[in-house]
Amino acid sequence: MNRFFMSTPLGFENTALLEMKEVWPYLLGKDAKTHSLSFPEVEVMMGGLEFETEMFQALQLNFFMKTANRLLLRMTSFRTKDLPKYYQKFKSLPWKEFLPHANVEWEVAAQKSRLNNEKRLQESAEKALQEIFAGQMGDTPCASIYIRMEDDLCTISLDATGEHLHKRGWSVLKGDAPMRETIAAELLREMIGEATPAEVASVSLCDPMMGSGTFLTEARALWSGQFQRDYAFKSWKKCPKLFLSPSFSLNYEIPARAPFKSLLGMDIDPKMPEVASKNFAEVESQLKAYQRDQFKSQEHKFWAQNSLEGVDLGGPVWMVVNPPYGERLPVAGKGGLKTLASELCRLYKPLKLGILYPEKEKVDPAPNGYKIEKELKINNGGIRCLFTILTPL
Ligand SMILES: C[S@@+](CC[C@H](N)C(=O)[O-])C[C@H]1O[C@@H](n2cnc3c(N)ncnc32)[C@H](O)[C@@H]1O
Repeated sequence: MNRFFMSTPLGFENTALLEMKEVWPYLLGKDAKTHSLSFPEVEVMMGGLEFETEMFQALQLNFFMKTANRLLLRMTSFRTKDLPKYYQKFKSLPWKEFLPHANVEWEVAAQKSRLNNEKRLQESAEKALQEIFAGQMGDTPCASIYIRMEDDLCTISLDATGEHLHKRGWSVLKGDAPMRETIAAELLREMIGEATPAEVASVSLCDPMMGSGTFLTEARALWSGQFQRDYAFKSWKKCPKLFLSPSFSLNYEIPARAPFKSLLGMDIDPKMPEVASKNFAEVESQLKAYQRDQFKSQEHKFWAQNSLEGVDLGGPVWMVVNPPYGERLPVAGKGGLKTLASELCRLYKPLKLGILYPEKEKVDPAPNGYKIEKELKINNGGIRCLFTILTPL
């Protein structure tokens, strides 16, 4: 058993726990068949989930978690106020089981501790690692080591993920101000909330300002694995062989799900439908590669139009929108983003409207005929935002 920390954006911890519970029954055991290991006890803390389980299962969470940032393997945790003790402890860790050489990247953070000089902590760890590997340095960094010192408690972790998990490996093109995939996944899950799968399957999801289509590609892949990007643990010396086989993803028996009836996207910028279509095609081609016979293409339509002019969407819809903040939005009337919510409700009568916008523009009161079902605080690229979900009265 090993200890792990799954880091998440602040506020996403409970969704990440839910995701982990949903995917757990479908993970593989060492025989490449669906496993029967019981779900670990998970400590939910600010910014992530800490738990102890088998390495083999934990590493697979990388493939499925949509609201998490990364998975760290906890190498050790100990109290110290003393640099030589810290050095010895670092040096005693089994780095040779994981790393091929001493060239690594460092993430060091220290506060409220006797040893709070981050540079010295890194230099000391670098020296230890170079001694372990007798000065062998590869051309490029082979891993990232995280060192955190807080209240004299030192935690040393090895990154199992590599590039941040919001990089799914399938968004080939981006528009201006794209949103992080982790945020899109969180907001979609908040909208789905307690709705039954049948309820969700009876509506289309429409993003009337889709840009590169992040909401739509995330909606397509919420319950799917991402296997074609790289993961840091794949270059560990002790990476389980199964995960290095190009076809291991075919062993998952996770049902192929496309939650919505169809996906619709508009953008006033005539270049965006092509961008969103390319991203969507890439997602679908990656899903098809491992879902094989179970794969069904999702009905979708992306087109260029000013969504404030209205159009018949041909059936019940949920809308989700991340409008541009500020000058680029052709505002309907004089009320800025507040008018946008009422215009979208008036024009399309969505059964739900989720809108992400700066906190200072708070939608209040709700548009005519609608109530505020939920309101979440979200940090979107450093801007304090609200995600407001409106439903008909
Ligand atoms: C913040 S971006 C959306 C980014 C998108 N969520 C993504 O991840 O790529 C806002 C988009 O709204 C589009 N837009 C602005 N006003 C619009 C309007 N009236 N009708 C349709 N699209 C509009 C812009 O062209 C831009 O692509």
